[in-house]
Amino acid sequence: MSEQAKYLRKVVEDYGERCLRGTHKSPAGPQRIIAVTSGKGGVGKSNLVINMSIALASGGMRVLVIDADLGLANIDLLLGIHTRHTLEHVATGKASLEEIQVTGPGGIRIIPGGSGAQCLLRASEEERNALMESLETLEDQADFIIIDTGAGLSPNVLAFLAFVEEIIVVTTPEPTAVADAYATVKTIAYENPGASIMLVVNMAKDRKNAKEIADNISIVAKRFLAVDTSFLGFVPRDPMVVKAVASQQPFLLSYPSSNASQAIIRLTEKLTGVSRVASDDMRGLAGLFARIFHRVERGHIEDGLQQGRNPIG
Ligand SMILES: Nc1ncnc2c1ncn2[C@@H]1O[C@H](COP(=O)(O)OP(=O)(O)OP(=O)(O)O)[C@@H](O)[C@H]1O
Ligand SMILES: [Mg+2]
Repeated sequence: MSEQAKYLRKVVEDYGERCLRGTHKSPAGPQRIIAVTSGKGGVGKSNLVINMSIALASGGMRVLVIDADLGLANIDLLLGIHTRHTLEHVATGKASLEEIQVTGPGGIRIIPGGSGAQCLLRASEEERNALMESLETLEDQADFIIIDTGAGLSPNVLAFLAFVEEIIVVTTPEPTAVADAYATVKTIAYENPGASIMLVVNMAKDRKNAKEIADNISIVAKRFLAVDTSFLGFVPRDPMVVKAVASQQPFLLSYPSSNASQAIIRLTEKLTGVSRVASDDMRGLAGLFARIFHRVERGHIEDGLQQGRNPIG
């Protein structure tokens, strides 16, 4: 076994042990659905989603990742996974959710999005019902459902942000990314006032730098929006991330001793340390899609699609 593999095993064992000692949520705890979003694109959402999910899975959690990014296929590209079917095929009744899910590294399961999330919003009632049924089966098999929403405030991204209980907003230290992260927090405050908003600063210089940036967002959000945001953690700028992306491998597995991997473990520990009990009406993946479809029926999403409306003006 290589030194790297030994190291990862140790990290995973230590983490698993802490889970068993009850420092962290047990796999049998309540299911959590977490959307990962950002204002600006390219800030590191998909890398965060994949590596955090692998860290969760290594701690004994069953993790389902939904790639709801409507941009270029993201997660499958990052992982070099070739998928024939995506959510688009589910939306058009050509495949079931079970058929399209793929097993990724570290045992995480991935639902590839393609341009499917958009199609889902336009699906017929019959197609939606079929989808809801398969969602119910799927949601029983996951402790964590992590949704990569893609960047920006398009109606599709908003559809998810409006109805999940926990949202991670990713930014980098770059001023434009911070301004866009704040705009995202503002939209969440308007669309989903009860959501728990967690900030992650990626590509930061160090923890101090990240904390300062997160604190600035938190202070402004508190003062002007009366909204609480918490600092979940940071990932340093690390050349190993770029190397791992180039080889289509998650950095947590390729470079487990890298600074970025250590940061992911810390951040994941913090996430599992926060216990969250979903309110009854917010529970489950099928429930989430039911709320999204209801919103479509009320015309919110179609209106937004047609007019490019920004709900907060
Ligand atoms: N911590 C980091 N250190 C160095 N480079 C990073 C780090 N995180 C991300 N990157 C670089 O940024 C690129 C974009 O990352 P990623 O694809 O995860 O962003 P994204 O927010 O999902 O983008 P999009 O908005 O296009 O979906 C990566 O390919 C990598 O080169
Ligand atoms: Mg992405």
